[in-house]
Amino acid sequence: MVIKTNFPIFIIVILSGVVLTFSNQASDIENLLKFKDSLQNVGNQMSNWSSSISPCKGNAIPQWQGVICEGENVWGLKLDHMGLKGTINLDALKELSNLRTLSLINNSFEGPLPEIKNLGYMKTIFLSDNDFQGDIPAKAFEDMQSLKKLHLDNNKLTGRIPNSLTTLGKLTELNLQNNQFSGQIPYFAKDRLIVLNVSNNKLQGPIPFNLSSMDASFFSGNTELCGAPLHHQCNSNSSMPKITTETKILLAIVLVASIAAIGSVIIILLRRKRTVDLEKRTSQNMKNVALPNNLKNHEHDSMTPDGLLDNGKNLSFLRDDRVKFDMNDLLKSSAEILDNGTFGLTYKAAIIGKTTVIVKRYKEMHNVNKEEFHQHMRRLGRLNHINLIPLVACYYKKEEKLLVSDHIDSVSLAIYLHGKSFFSLLSIINLME
Ligand SMILES: *[C@@H]1O[C@H](CO)[C@@H](O)[C@H](O)[C@H]1NC(C)=O
Ligand SMILES: *[C@@H]1O[C@H](CO)[C@@H](O)[C@H](O)[C@H]1NC(C)=O
Ligand SMILES: *[C@@H]1O[C@H](CO)[C@@H](O)[C@H](O)[C@H]1NC(C)=O
Ligand SMILES: *[C@@H]1O[C@H](CO)[C@@H](O)[C@H](O)[C@H]1NC(C)=O
Ligand SMILES: *[C@@H]1O[C@H](CO)[C@@H](O)[C@H](O)[C@H]1NC(C)=O
Repeated sequence: MVIKTNFPIFIIVILSGVVLTFSNQASDIENLLKFKDSLQNVGNQMSNWSSSISPCKGNAIPQWQGVICEGENVWGLKLDHMGLKGTINLDALKELSNLRTLSLINNSFEGPLPEIKNLGYMKTIFLSDNDFQGDIPAKAFEDMQSLKKLHLDNNKLTGRIPNSLTTLGKLTELNLQNNQFSGQIPYFAKDRLIVLNVSNNKLQGPIPFNLSSMDASFFSGNTELCGAPLHHQCNSNSSMPKITTETKILLAIVLVASIAAIGSVIIILLRRKRTVDLEKRTSQNMKNVALPNNLKNHEHDSMTPDGLLDNGKNLSFLRDDRVKFDMNDLLKSSAEILDNGTFGLTYKAAIIGKTTVIVKRYKEMHNVNKEEFHQHMRRLGRLNHINLIPLVACYYKKEEKLLVSDHIDSVSLAIYLHGKSFFSLLSIINLME
């Protein structure tokens, strides 16, 4: 087509605008008529849906039954109480670029819920009082981030409340009452939700804590739903594993034992720190202490970065046939207090990756000096008797002495600690005091 050069350009612009608007309206008309064609039971209720009349006139005045206009555009459809059936032609509705609301309340639509997520920009969708049935896929409402109100109440919908509903950031009103939804109510993290009516369904389990401030009538008529705002208390086993009294007692014991173990390790560490200074002062005088040959090398290890003398390595082994470990290992071990006797604490120490031993800690021992102490210990270490729990190692500091023996089970240990018939090393040590 050749345009005359003297034809004013602005007229072309205006004309093309008019043509565009007109063609937009024309395609809206075409799509709305396609939508109408897929409906059944229309009768003459939609007689003014005709290509000879435009749906919206001028300033938002509708000329078609049930059309809501915004300017000259179709913004919504409200076709309630009309006994309509058939198919909802979503492909046609999808083409209506200004459509934001759809209401088809109290009609006779049936079958599965249409895939309304195809209408991605919709703000409100009302499909209440129809015969929609069956499960709704979990992702049915995915990405409908404009959706504010969704009414699906009074249908025959089943299955779980679709999870995609919980992700809609603008959703304020969700009516699902009078259906047959089952399973638990999902957690709605979105804070704009004001109405969530799920009454008269088959939902079960606890109402998410988040919804407990909502109106109780939203949840009524679900016999197996429990928790606030309903007065029906949740059974302890409805969603969480049952915690028996035995389990609770066991947990309490474990807790107390752990605290005791941690506490004892802390005490040992603190005591070590306090004795460091004393040790520094006395270490010079200890060079000549008689020790089993294999231990001499460890006796005067250099200072460690944290200032602890000997790096805790001066644990003296009294037997060659035992797994070796040092004071650091012992300090790092998991300790369990077995007895807090008159003369000191006895605890079981599991030395990581190595062995388990019994440690008896003495605070005082008649000011016995290091030489005397080790002499005694070497003698005791050589003793072998069926009723004797062998002494494996010892440790000397001015303010603290440790005796390490083999680990035995707790029953034997109780006898060992308190029994009179057993010949116990600890009683010998006690006699030294
Ligand atoms: C369209 O037709 C219906 C009946 O089919 C009538 O009730 C309604 O008033 C009509 N609407 C307009 C705007 O003419
Ligand atoms: C539902 O629609 C029918 C017409 O199909 C009408 O007779 C009836 O009154 C409507 N019910 C309600 C509650 O509006
Ligand atoms: C649910 O919890 C989230 C996070 O704790 C909160 O932001 C939101 O407001 C709560 N929703 C409702 C409906 O109370
Ligand atoms: C929720 O739905 C039930 C059943 O339709 C109704 O009785 C109740 O009033 C509704 N709750 C609110 C607060 O609208
Ligand atoms: C609780 O557990 C028992 C046995 O496991 C079961 O019979 C009962 O139905 C459960 N109650 C609830 C509310 O889940």
